Amino acid sequence: MSTVSLRWTITRDSYLHFGERYLRKDWNEFRLFLPHRHFPVGTEHRTIATHATLLLQHSHRVKMANIAKLFTVRAQTLVQAAARQPQVAIRFSSTSANWEFIKTEVTGEKKNVAVITLNRPKALNALCNGLMQELSTALKGYGKDSNIAAIVLTGSEKAFAAGADIKEMAPNTYSQCIQGNFLNDWTEVARTQKPIIAAVNGYALGGGCELAMMCDIIYAGEKAKFGQPEIALGTIPGAGGTQRLTRVVGKSKAMEMCLTGNMINAQEAEKVGLVSKVVPADQLVSEAIKLGEKIGTHSSLIVQLCKEAVNTAYETTLQEGLKFERRTFHATFSTADRKEGMQAFVEKRPANFKNE
Ligand code: CAA
Repeated sequence: MSTVSLRWTITRDSYLHFGERYLRKDWNEFRLFLPHRHFPVGTEHRTIATHATLLLQHSHRVKMANIAKLFTVRAQTLVQAAARQPQVAIRFSSTSANWEFIKTEVTGEKKNVAVITLNRPKALNALCNGLMQELSTALKGYGKDSNIAAIVLTGSEKAFAAGADIKEMAPNTYSQCIQGNFLNDWTEVARTQKPIIAAVNGYALGGGCELAMMCDIIYAGEKAKFGQPEIALGTIPGAGGTQRLTRVVGKSKAMEMCLTGNMINAQEAEKVGLVSKVVPADQLVSEAIKLGEKIGTHSSLIVQLCKEAVNTAYETTLQEGLKFERRTFHATFSTADRKEGMQAFVEKRPANFKNE
């Protein structure tokens, strides 16, 4: 039997082109750009258009024409809804989508922490293209959702993720890797502006370890195992294993892990600074959510600046980093939240941040 499942995001950008539609065979992705004249264009008559993106997972037996028709009708409905109430459609895309490889929920007392669970249990959450596409889409959705303060990324008790999907990538040739820029889509995690916490139970191997390292904070369950076993497959880490790991644990430990493929356990990972906390496996996700909630008590604007400043430490020299930090610190003095935070301290009351 043929199956079709749909995911979509509604965003606003300055792309205007009527009716352009294309299919990328590798990802089964349709993209339809719709004319801005269908939508209210803002009082300043800026060139804002709404475009809809739909990813289609389908069997080969589904006729393209049917998919295109289904897509067009669904996308138009969504875009019309977005024009009336854009924020509703954006939130819909990030919270209610019908995912195949992940699960998403919004939780916490204030419903401000998003949890994305990798959900490919039979393959130990191996990171196939479809999964990474869904993860990217979910992250983009939550990234734009002003109600979300932090994101938790987790897997199952057996595996956070056992790496890139070896079976899917095995047939790849060098030219396909180059021409398709293989693994380029994986960077959405590192690009996410909101704080993202990896809650790692079980195996975090190869791309799984790299995915955890793209997050801002890693919490580990007691039985978590981290490793870069690519060397045993005749390849090397391709999504940060030789770079982020080395910056975190130092050359000797990173070299040992990458050259042997040996795993380290949660306790050792904590000792070398790869993870910030080890907790019992069954409390891992709730602990990560609590951490997200704590972050969510602060100004999301200042949290974003602070995250950027810490990340700059990985990108530049100490002097440049210190300069960036100082200027960003100065910049917080232009915000209402910095004023409110200090005023609240002086008045011995909780701060009421407006994220401005
Ligand atoms: N890709 C595809 N399938 C995988 C997978 C992977 N990375 N890891 C596990 N699976 C599949 C297995 O093939 C198996 O499927 P079948 O039941 O259909 O045979 C299923 O998941 C369960 O796996 P095992 O039977 O092997 O489970 P285990 O408990 O005996 O072993 C394991 C667990 C040690 C994690 C082992 O599965 C393993 O070594 N996996 C591969 C780890 C690895 O090499 N990761 C690096 C990938 S390369 C990479 O990530 C490159 C990069 O930098 C981006």
